[in-house]
Amino acid sequence: MNGGAAATTARFDPPGGGLRGSLRVPADKSISHRAALFGAMSSGAVRVRNYLHAADTDSTLAAVQALGTRVEQSGTPGELTLHGVGLRGARALDGALDVGNAGTLMRLICGWLAGQPAGTWTLDGDDSIRSRPMDRVVAPLRLMGARIDAREDRFAPLTIHGGSLHGIAYASPVASAQVKSCVLIAGLATPEGASVTEPHPSRDHTERLLASAGVPLSRDGLRVTVAPVDALELGDVDVPGDLSSAAFFVAAALLVPGSRVVLENVNVNWTRTGFLRIAERMGARIGGQLEPPGGFTAGEPVSDLEVAHGPLRGTTVEADEVPLAIDELPLVALLGCCAEGETVVRGAQELRVKESDRIATVVEGLRALGAEIEATDDGFVVQGRGAGALRGGRIASHGDHRLAMLGAVAGLASRAGVEVDGMEAAAVSYPGFAADLAGLIAR
Ligand code: S3P
Repeated sequence: MNGGAAATTARFDPPGGGLRGSLRVPADKSISHRAALFGAMSSGAVRVRNYLHAADTDSTLAAVQALGTRVEQSGTPGELTLHGVGLRGARALDGALDVGNAGTLMRLICGWLAGQPAGTWTLDGDDSIRSRPMDRVVAPLRLMGARIDAREDRFAPLTIHGGSLHGIAYASPVASAQVKSCVLIAGLATPEGASVTEPHPSRDHTERLLASAGVPLSRDGLRVTVAPVDALELGDVDVPGDLSSAAFFVAAALLVPGSRVVLENVNVNWTRTGFLRIAERMGARIGGQLEPPGGFTAGEPVSDLEVAHGPLRGTTVEADEVPLAIDELPLVALLGCCAEGETVVRGAQELRVKESDRIATVVEGLRALGAEIEATDDGFVVQGRGAGALRGGRIASHGDHRLAMLGAVAGLASRAGVEVDGMEAAAVSYPGFAADLAGLIAR
């Protein structure tokens, strides 16, 4: 399964002045996926405000509709009402369900479908999805009694045969919110429930939403446990702005002299704000009210973030911090290039199985622009050469949305500009990215 927009090359030059003004970034991708999935699993109507309309989350809406959920779109962008099929009511399908490029959709939906009383579903996606490991969810689901076929036992397409599952206490070898969420979702339909223990904390949107949907849920250190339920009752969901999208403007403002920007209504759940803490360690001053470590509320905290240009120094990111900044680590590499001193990221081997192998694509991409950066097995080492470290040149997105946006920000911070091949990939999470960036430059 493949497709998508034709390849486009876009050019990003250093602006004459700084980035100025305020911006409301698009809605959070992780929370939007979950709002649609949990809405589909709910018994009553679920109203969502500020749902993200981007390729990934459109895939999730299409998937839940194919499984029987009725989705009503109001006239207001991002406002929709889901009339779900309930926890055990997913409709069987003739053809394959297309998850597109969306790993979160693929991995979470497996946990739901595996526990359906009857039915068979085939899940497939684009070339990137077909190259990403699915054994990380297939293995725990099989331990729960699921019947799943996978290509080479670990890749999409997957075929899931619904059936009854039993509970599990799963020690996940990876700190992955997708794995954790998949097992917790599957646990809802078991007689015993499920617990997942992770090596390090990962984003906790699933826990917050399930708790607000009436699921008895407890946390004890790195272990989270859900009790079984007969039904989900997800109320209204208001999706906050995506920190991972805001991060590109945080980086751009830090790197381009004369910049001062305000990013409005951003989700500041502490399991998502690792990048801001890393940037602060590098010398950034970021205004806003971040949730303190360990915070856990029903719902999601939001804040406006204010960022201005300033000098940066190198830092080290260790494994425990990696899941809290996983999607922003390419930006840490970029900041590291333009900082003084060395920046090291360790324990980030998960980057190799993202939408692209982000250790390889980030290192190759930034080197082509003049950076001194080396790949390691589990991260990278950057020799920072201060402002002006990047000459510019050409970078390929490799179909990876975060690589495309990284290239754009690198262009603004470079001496001679950057051409990004495959800029259309940004539409996976942020269709209006280039226009929003241009808007901040024009002011
Ligand atoms: C996500 C979890 C992370 C992240 C991805 C979204 C989620 O993946 O990289 O972009 O919504 O649960 P892993 O769970 O594989 O770390």
